[in-house]
This record gives sequence, structure tokens and C-alpha cells, in this order.
Amino acid sequence: MSNRMWGGRFASGPAEIMADINASIDFDKRLAAQDIRGSKAHAAMLGAAGILSAEDVAAIAAGLDRVGGEIERGEFAFSRELEDIHMNVESRLRDLIGPAAGRLHTARSRNDQVATDMKLWVRDAIDSLDSQLADLQRALAEKALAFADTVMPGFTHLQPAQPVTFGHHLLAYVEMTGRDRGRLADARLRLNECPLGSAALAGTSFPIDREATARALGFDRPTANSLDAVSDRDFALETLAAASICAVHLSRLAEEIVLWTTPQFAFVRLSDAFSTGSSIMPQKRNPDAAELVRGKSGRILGALQGLLVVLKGLPLAYGKDMQEDKEGVFDAVHTLSLCIAASAGMVRDMQPDREAMRRWAGAAYATATDLADWLVRVLNLPFRDAHHVTGRLVAAAASRNAGLEELSLAEMQAVEPRITAAVFDVLGVDASIRSRTSFGGTAPDNVRTQARGWLERLGKETAT
Ligand code: ARG
Repeated sequence: MSNRMWGGRFASGPAEIMADINASIDFDKRLAAQDIRGSKAHAAMLGAAGILSAEDVAAIAAGLDRVGGEIERGEFAFSRELEDIHMNVESRLRDLIGPAAGRLHTARSRNDQVATDMKLWVRDAIDSLDSQLADLQRALAEKALAFADTVMPGFTHLQPAQPVTFGHHLLAYVEMTGRDRGRLADARLRLNECPLGSAALAGTSFPIDREATARALGFDRPTANSLDAVSDRDFALETLAAASICAVHLSRLAEEIVLWTTPQFAFVRLSDAFSTGSSIMPQKRNPDAAELVRGKSGRILGALQGLLVVLKGLPLAYGKDMQEDKEGVFDAVHTLSLCIAASAGMVRDMQPDREAMRRWAGAAYATATDLADWLVRVLNLPFRDAHHVTGRLVAAAASRNAGLEELSLAEMQAVEPRITAAVFDVLGVDASIRSRTSFGGTAPDNVRTQARGWLERLGKETAT
């Protein structure tokens, strides 16, 4: 039997394998709500433009609501013979309202329809990821405020570099997450043009009102080129790119949590709620959620690569290859959403071990830069010379396994005679972090101001 939706010029039905390779209903049923919303807007516009009768529009709208209800309640029998969500919905509409259903497809095609559905879906996804990211920012900023003066080693090359505060470290992720939100918002802005009415590729001869459809669906305007409209998947790529960068950020935080929770670092403890045990080693507390956030970033990056490759050789306009956009986007959004939620949960849960962090904050000559800065400030040495003098002092201390603050004044003066006892004030960890008052620096007062500023902005966001 040939296909009831497009089989007019076909004498027989498709090969069995066609159902397997061609049908997208197994995954694009997730576009049902968007598909129905788009169809209702299209039908209403056709009515207002005098292309469909008011009775047909009313029957179509009521029928589409019934189809939507059936799908929501799980009563809808999806059919693979009908390939995709668009034809499943339209076919059911015909069962319910009869031949008027056949008028819905006037002045549109599945090509502009699917582009519209996907844009609506991605737009909703961006909005919900954005509010999840705001929640993660809130969790980070709250923790940062609570631990604004908790010292820890700051690292470069994963070698102890200079003391910082735990609050400062967490606020770095608030900034990163803020840029992630900015990228998603940018993608949303460019996405927000309505393809519907571009029809198959060339537009339509019916006197449609594309502005009206765009407005009804919350788009800023209709797309300006019908060929572009049906073949553009930039919005999916941009969203996946933004999601990928965000996933990389979350993966970096996850990696730090993995490191911090090792007995070797012991900077942070996750409660039982975010730790798992080993079935063989009773002493183990594994940070599985952090490892999975780190691991799942792979799927999100993979979805971006996958779609880039799908699109790269495609001539204009629509090609069935583009049906491959969906599973990657759905999976990436779902995965990112899980990762954001797990990250926010871990951030709220984790408790820093102040003693362990303090112990390591001052270790490994982490205040050597403070010493060099003192030589510049007080003795007016050029920084390069101060760096050299400090290097010799570090070597002197290291040669007898001591900290810089354990050198005697005489030992210091043997390297640079003008050094005075006042130097010892800058060798402590607390003095070091307190002195870093430059904008964006780690001084606890800075950190508190930044954390409060973020919390105020984030609070306002929820209020609006
Ligand atoms: N299921 C298709 C997709 O996702 C819908 C568009 C089909 N268009 C067509 N001309 N066969 O891309």
C-alpha cells in the first residue's frame, strides 16, 4: 500500500527497511507540543487571511487540541508508517475532523514545519537551561560568600602558586557560568525568526501573513529567505556550541571536586548524599556525580561534532540528512540539564576543610610573590631583580627544608642587606590574600563585594 499522506504517484509501498531508516517518529514525538502549537498558529493565520473558512479553522483548532490531549495522556498510537510527528498529527486530525484536516497543509511544507518545531523546542530548552544555570550561579555565590576568607592554595600548572580564597575560586565559576548564559542568550536572539510560511523551499503563492504567524509563536519576525529558512540549522549548532562550552566548564569544576575530595587533597568533603561506596573496598567514598558530569561532557561535545559533520556537505535547501539534527540536540540538552542540576547539588553539599586548605595555602613558598612585591614596594628594586633575590631566598629556605617565614633576618640579609624585619608581615597567608585588593583580586573584602553583587543581580532576576 502506498503512503496515505504522499503516496498519490506511487504504485506500491516502501521497502521494509525504509520504515527503519526513514521514520523519525520514535524520537521526534518529543516535538508534539511544538508541532501542534505551530499548526494552530498557521491555521489561524490562514483563516485571518481568508485562505481557509472560519469553520475549517475552528474544526482544525479543536481537533488539534484533542490530538494534543491524546498525546499528553499517552493515549496516542504513534505509527512508523506515518514517518514523523508532523504526519502522525495530521493523520489523526483527519480521523477526528475529516477532510478539513487536509486543508491545514495549505501554504506550508514539512520543511518549514520541522524547522519551526525545532526552533520552538530549542528556544524552550535555552530558557530552561538558563534558569538552571542561574540556580547554579546562586549556589556558587552563596558558598563563595560563606567562605570569602577561607584560604586555599591557588594553582598554576596544578603547582601551588599563590594563596587565594575558596570564595574567590568559586566565583570564578560564577563568571564562567555567566558567560555560558550569555552565549545561550545570543543563540536565542539569532534563533528567534519564524521559518513557517517558507513552505518547501521557494515560498508560496497563497497570500499568507508571515508576520502574524511569527508573532503568534513568539518570534521577533519571519525569516527573510525561504531557502535559508528551511535549511538553516545554525540555531541548533549555536546552542550545541554554547552547551559544549558550558559542559566543559562543568567538567572542569567536576574535575576539581574529584581532586579536592581525594584523601591526598582533602580540601572538600561531599556528604553521603553525593558520595557512593565501593562494593569491595569498604573505606571508599567516590565522587560519582562529579565523575559523571566530567564524563557526560563527551556526549554533548559529540552532538556538536555530529551535527557539524551532517551539515557540512549539504547543498541548499532541505535534505533528509537534516532529520539527524534531533537526537543529538535532545540528548545534549537533557544531558546538560542533568549535569547542571548535579553540579548545583554538589556545590550546595560540599563542605571545605578549612585546616587542610590553610595548611597547603602557605606551603611550597606560596607567598614568594608577596616577598618579591615587598622588595619592589619598600626597597624600590626593579621587579626582575626582586624576583631574583626572592629566588635565592627560596633556595636558601629549601636547602634546609624550611618555609620562607622560618628564615632569620640575618639569613635574609645575607642575600639582600637592605631587608628589614617588616618583611615578615607579608610572608603570612592572611596578609597575602588581604593585600590582593586590585579589582578582581582575591582579597576577602573583594570576594564579599563580588558575591553580594551576584546574589543581588540573581535575586532580581527571579523577582522579574
Ligand atoms: N521528519 C523530517 C525531518 O525531521 C521532516 C521533514 C521532512 N520533509 C521532507 N520533505 N521529507 O527533517
